[in-house]
Amino acid sequence: MGVFYRSFVIFTILFLAFCCSLSESTHISYDNRALKIDGKRKIIISGSIHYPRSTAAMWPSLIKKAKEGGLNAIETYVFWNAHEPVRRQYDFSGDLDLVKFIKTIQDAGLYAILRIGPYVCAEWNYGGFPVWLHNLSKDMAFRTTNKIFMEEMEIFTTKIVDMMKKEKLFASDGGPIILAQIENEFGDLEGAWHGLGVDYKPYVTAVAKFADGLNTGIPWIMCQEHDAPFPMIETCNGMYCDGFTPQNTSMPKIWTELWTGWFKVWGDLDPHRPVEDVGYAVARFYQRGGNLLNYYMYHGGTNFGRSSGGPQITTSYDYDAPLNEYGLPNQPKWGHLKQLHEVILSFEKIITHGNFVTRDFDNAGWKREMTEVTYQGEKLCFFANGEYETYTFHYEGLEFPVLPWSVSIAQDCATEVFNTARVNVTKEVMEYNKQQGPLEWTWRAERVEQLKDQSAKEKSVTFADELLEQKSVTNDTSDYLWYMTSLEVDECSSTLEEGNVTLKVHTDGQVLHAFLNKKRIGTHYQKGGGFVLEAAGKLKPGINTISLLSATVGLPNYGVLFDKSSYGVVGEATLTSLAGGHIDLAGAQWGYKVGISGIDERKFYSDKEKRNWKNNPPVNKHLVWYKATFDTPSGVDPVVLDLEGLGKGAAWVNGNNIGRYWPSIRRPDIGCNPCDYRGPYNQNDAKCRTNCGEPAQKFYHVPRSFLNKDTKKNDLVLFEEFGGDPSQVNVRTVTPKKA
Ligand SMILES: *[C@@H]1O[C@H](CO)[C@@H](O)[C@H](O)[C@H]1NC(C)=O
Ligand SMILES: *[C@@H]1O[C@H](CO)[C@@H](O)[C@H](O)[C@H]1NC(C)=O
Ligand SMILES: *[C@@H]1O[C@H](CO)[C@@H](O)[C@H](O)[C@H]1NC(C)=O
Ligand SMILES: *[C@@H]1O[C@H](CO)[C@@H](O)[C@H](O)[C@H]1NC(C)=O
Ligand SMILES: *[C@@H]1O[C@H](CO)[C@@H](O)[C@H](O)[C@H]1NC(C)=O
Repeated sequence: MGVFYRSFVIFTILFLAFCCSLSESTHISYDNRALKIDGKRKIIISGSIHYPRSTAAMWPSLIKKAKEGGLNAIETYVFWNAHEPVRRQYDFSGDLDLVKFIKTIQDAGLYAILRIGPYVCAEWNYGGFPVWLHNLSKDMAFRTTNKIFMEEMEIFTTKIVDMMKKEKLFASDGGPIILAQIENEFGDLEGAWHGLGVDYKPYVTAVAKFADGLNTGIPWIMCQEHDAPFPMIETCNGMYCDGFTPQNTSMPKIWTELWTGWFKVWGDLDPHRPVEDVGYAVARFYQRGGNLLNYYMYHGGTNFGRSSGGPQITTSYDYDAPLNEYGLPNQPKWGHLKQLHEVILSFEKIITHGNFVTRDFDNAGWKREMTEVTYQGEKLCFFANGEYETYTFHYEGLEFPVLPWSVSIAQDCATEVFNTARVNVTKEVMEYNKQQGPLEWTWRAERVEQLKDQSAKEKSVTFADELLEQKSVTNDTSDYLWYMTSLEVDECSSTLEEGNVTLKVHTDGQVLHAFLNKKRIGTHYQKGGGFVLEAAGKLKPGINTISLLSATVGLPNYGVLFDKSSYGVVGEATLTSLAGGHIDLAGAQWGYKVGISGIDERKFYSDKEKRNWKNNPPVNKHLVWYKATFDTPSGVDPVVLDLEGLGKGAAWVNGNNIGRYWPSIRRPDIGCNPCDYRGPYNQNDAKCRTNCGEPAQKFYHVPRSFLNKDTKKNDLVLFEEFGGDPSQVNVRTVTPKKA
């Protein structure tokens, strides 16, 4: 009896395993009302979390907090240049483990939306394109039918799709991915392409056809693409998308990017989008038949290393999102939206099936709009007041006073269950508690490169009889490129005599340091655009060397032909003496050396190099390295470095590049007005900006997984480019506090 029973159980388990692995598939379809999961219309509330902007150790908790915040899906882009830094050398390890990220979403019981791009914009360096792609051909033209571009784009996209298929991550294989995206916001630039005389349609058709041919078994979307060829679904990005309807009216209304805030730029004010307004935008979207929305960003995170786009986007990508840069709820935004999600999802059936009747009050059009939704005897009303004062709707003998710039949602059109402007979640601010500092520093100087005869033998120096554009030499493997030349001054070569000279050099950006005979004679930077650096120096008899260190601060990620934007020393380069002597250096022989020695030779990690680090660190010195150790703060609170006092550079903690820092660039002193949530929010407005006169960014996130748990001692290495005072640096933990 017992034996029989056991084998029966085993047989049943085997049978179940067999049966379900075959039928494990979720069917994704849609109609004009909604995305359908296994035939059922669903409301999807999704949030963007970009896996490389946090760490694998942070993913489970971020996703858990997103779920607690009422989301049922997570969206991410895929970052091509992070995964293929060198052509055909792929990296999906650690914090780039896309499969693990999607599986973490799956484990949490959420759906996933995969926006492959592979152009992603995203304020990410070069919009996610690898710079080597630009270098592959003289005729390279991104986002066109250019043969080499299409080939490379297809190879990468196919690789991602195959990876997802192999791991059974598409819904069609039982996985969490319900939608995939090809291209990104292409339609926004169609006017500009047209202006350039480019026929962009063949490209849109070609990428759509290619994506469709990948047979993922799930629908593809193209955001901001009104020409989206069938079966691509056209979707909307913006602050508000209630007014959007896809051109193909058989398709559902999908909002791929609901901007919860905005990104920060070095030297600009800190943008905030009021939660009342975000809630208003969400409610209006559902009022007007919206179906799927995705918060961009739900967690913005950090642009570690050299990943920030630009030019000049900050290392923090906080975005004023519902989860802040460190993954803590940004209150009241997180909590207020959570309440709204619960309300919207509780009406899923009626919103996705009901009959919508909208009418305006007092002929105010969109500004005073009431929508009644009815389904199987149930009723739901949205009362939208787009004015700056409270407005009372009179409806079926009832009065509904609705706050300015808000939507009230009323069950049975009788009981208000939510108003988007009535926020009852307590505001919180982050408290940065000092743990340690000042730290004990050692230092060393970065080597100033110059072109002497012996450097000609160095393999790492390449030569050209002209000035070369920076990324074509570096492939963006470093922010830094040395341009080096030399000239001989003697009595016979009379074009230039010894003594005082002026060096004039034009650069397309973004930072330039000039050296004459290894002595720094000038440093300049400018946000966007090129500039001319003018510096005075003194020529000596014999060989003189001129070295120019050019630096980029994030490559652009947006616009037509952004990939062709030029950086580094190009155009004018001259030396002029007091006596009128003049030399044109542009056509001289230039040596090129990519990177700076401290980073590239990884000197700061090798024990052998210990003796080269000196005590008594200098203050306000350009191009120096600083090194210190600090203790891992106890507890679980997020850890940041307070780098106020430093100039500009990059920081590493135990070898992890936590990003570029630039606290010396300050925000403008004016423009911080009290924030009135009423009225449309626009990222270009001065509205709701904070931190006037403050450093553009002084706190730099150090994820706990970068820290040592056992030894508790952590190496902090700084490359200080502009000069600063490291004695001000300290370590802090972040705790939310009721405001
Ligand atoms: C840049 O990329 C091209 C094409 O892959 C390659 O030939 C070249 O060596 C690269 N240069 C650097 C500095 O990495
Ligand atoms: C690619 O970069 C290398 C230097 O790294 C340069 O010599 C070559 O001309 C570039 N090719 C193209 C097509 O831009
Ligand atoms: C619009 O979408 C429907 C449903 O997916 C499809 O059958 C139809 O062909 C599409 N229309 C066009 C013009 O592409
Ligand atoms: C806050 O508002 C929500 C939604 O209107 C409501 O469900 C909740 O009970 C309120 N909480 C408090 C503490 O007032
Ligand atoms: C050369 O430059 C130095 C430093 O700026 C200055 O002190 C000196 O007077 C200059 N000499 C002449 C001849 O102008």
